[in-house]
Amino acid sequence: MANSFSLDWLPLPLLLLTSLIPLVLTSTNENGFCTAEYGCLDFVPSPKILIKGGTVVNAHHHEVADVYIEDGIIIAVQPNINVSDDVRVIDATGKYVMPGGIDPHTHLEMEFMGTEAIDDFFSGQAAALSGGTTMHIDFVLPVNGSLSAGFEAYSRKAEKSCMDYGFHMAITKWDDDVARDMDIMVKERGINSFKFFMAYKGSFMINDELLLEGFKKCKSLGALAQVHAENGDGVAEGQRRMIELGIMGPEGHALSRPPLLEGEATARAIRLAAFVNTPLYVVHVMSIDALEEIAQARKSGQRVIGEPVVSGLVLDESKLWDPDFITAAKYVMSPPIRKSGHDKALQGALSSGILQLVGTDHCTFNSAQKAMGIHDFRKIPNGVNGIEERMHLVWDLMVETGQISASDFVRITSTACAQIFNIYPRKGAILTGSDADIIILNPNSSFQINAESHHSRTDTNVYEGKRGKGKIEVTISRGRIVWENGELKVEPGTGRYVPMPPFSYLFDGIDKMDSAYYSSLHAPVQRMIKTVES
Ligand code: URP
Ligand code: ZN
Ligand code: ZN
Repeated sequence: MANSFSLDWLPLPLLLLTSLIPLVLTSTNENGFCTAEYGCLDFVPSPKILIKGGTVVNAHHHEVADVYIEDGIIIAVQPNINVSDDVRVIDATGKYVMPGGIDPHTHLEMEFMGTEAIDDFFSGQAAALSGGTTMHIDFVLPVNGSLSAGFEAYSRKAEKSCMDYGFHMAITKWDDDVARDMDIMVKERGINSFKFFMAYKGSFMINDELLLEGFKKCKSLGALAQVHAENGDGVAEGQRRMIELGIMGPEGHALSRPPLLEGEATARAIRLAAFVNTPLYVVHVMSIDALEEIAQARKSGQRVIGEPVVSGLVLDESKLWDPDFITAAKYVMSPPIRKSGHDKALQGALSSGILQLVGTDHCTFNSAQKAMGIHDFRKIPNGVNGIEERMHLVWDLMVETGQISASDFVRITSTACAQIFNIYPRKGAILTGSDADIIILNPNSSFQINAESHHSRTDTNVYEGKRGKGKIEVTISRGRIVWENGELKVEPGTGRYVPMPPFSYLFDGIDKMDSAYYSSLHAPVQRMIKTVES
């Protein structure tokens, strides 16, 4: 092999951590998934693979080339690679060979609104892999306010992982212990982003004082501050109004939290982040009101990242008015899916670079769980599916319609996420030395979505019946073919935690801006104190 590769960009502790693969004993269950009992040994080395003749697409370049993989790493990307007989060759002629998707926003096995999201770190990840996503970043919730306890709890949940994953951490209260734990999370646990909920009054919601403390702490650690931007007091008032009007069904969810409450909170978070001079990431941007605030801030030079989610790009709120409760309830998420028009605006913002990457907010509840709110929309667990559908829907919606190029597709589904969370080019690229997380998409084939055939555990699908062009035929996860010929080959315990170092590119130059600010103050003024003689 002519090319050599280097893992120079990985600090040693990170390399060591990422090589700790849990050992498992596997067998196959009735759904065709492998299952495992932990603590036993069944370690199969990853095969040598050559992907031949496809169009290799990266965020900044595409070319017809072969990709050679060994030990889970991309060893070479160049035309006409010759290999020996022990190498598995996959013909990708006429197909796109792209980095596996990275979903920046998921909630697997999350305890929320009196229940728990039904997809766990195995079923959610299996679903992801079948849809071409090879890494996700999940939100750790503190346990009784403790970040360390939250991290341990989520690490245990994630032991059954079958693909790579990272963690964000939510901050739901403020005291010295939380501030100290934030240090530990960043310096010792590989977390480089913290989410602040401006909504969910009475549970996760924080006030502006906490937001400011949290932003300052994030800045000092080089961690990215993220916000769920809705005015939680406004939402509580909107909910009271709906109840007074006798509107108890799922449509009350959308009516109680209109776009202006999302716009207000987005503007407030942006201004407070500007005041602290720290980068900001707005999760699940669902409305024109929010995206206009982001556009204005970015135009003024502020570092604000906006993440739309697939449901906001593809759906509109009309289904919330469906006469069948279960049909309507499955669309309940926050911020709500908006009226038609917001979806088109979000697509435009994505294609023009106002918004940077696409997540899913995958947080699934089955019909029985959604029925907790049959008499009161406030009790319907909030969340929709998407981890399995994101790559196909974004390709069909954005590339097939000509709104973006294949390279843009790679950027918004994979590369931008890897860069923002500081794991590029190990992830998010098909380059020599990158992890072999790869998909092969056939642009001439098609997909169809329905709950009967999806891999998520939920019994409904908000994209039920959707068809489109472009089919992910092969998913390779760290050098293993996990999805091929419509079959999943996954093992619990094979996924790795990917620690994410602080001080991404978003922090470059922040110190210079701080210096410019301090020197612009022209203060304190040195004054002579004169004593006045009487
Ligand atoms: O409805 C949603 N979005 N559920 C998950 C929790 C959150 O706010 O992200
Ligand atoms: Zn949220
Ligand atoms: Zn979320």
